[in-house]
Amino acid sequence: MIYRIKQFHWAIQSVFQNTDCEIPNKYLSKSELSLFMKVTKSERNHSIRVCKAALEYIRDENILDIDKCIMCKCALLHDIGKSKARLNIFYKSIIIIINKITYGNFLKYTQSQRINNYYNHPQIGADLLKNINEDNIDIINCIRYHHDDNNAKDNIYLKILKRCDNLN
Ligand SMILES: [Fe+2]
Ligand SMILES: [Fe+2]
Repeated sequence: MIYRIKQFHWAIQSVFQNTDCEIPNKYLSKSELSLFMKVTKSERNHSIRVCKAALEYIRDENILDIDKCIMCKCALLHDIGKSKARLNIFYKSIIIIINKITYGNFLKYTQSQRINNYYNHPQIGADLLKNINEDNIDIINCIRYHHDDNNAKDNIYLKILKRCDNLN
């Protein structure tokens, strides 16, 4: 709950803050960067926070067996599917609350295309990335499964992404 409040606070802050593109410029290719720029400013800032948190986690836990560039791409691109479902922070908060009250049924059964796209953003994001770079199966799968509760197939990138996404 405390993280939900923090996320809301960050999202409000993002409205007034520009995106610091140093990290995206460093780790993303030109075509990846153009996908990244299509989501809202608050989603961009969220993804950059996730990326920074992932780098800190790798450093603090001294994880050596990981490609930092792939990790950063996963973090920066994980929510690009939301470019097809641009919702402002107030609308989004209301949807999350209604969905909680209805035990997830609201998002499952809504007729709204935009809300459906929001619900399916992991799959949409994975397809968007596949269109520009089919080789990056690790990154594509990270995007596709980042809200999947079945952890059995999680690799190290997905584990770190899920952890840092939840905290940011
Ligand atoms: Fe997401
Ligand atoms: Fe996210």
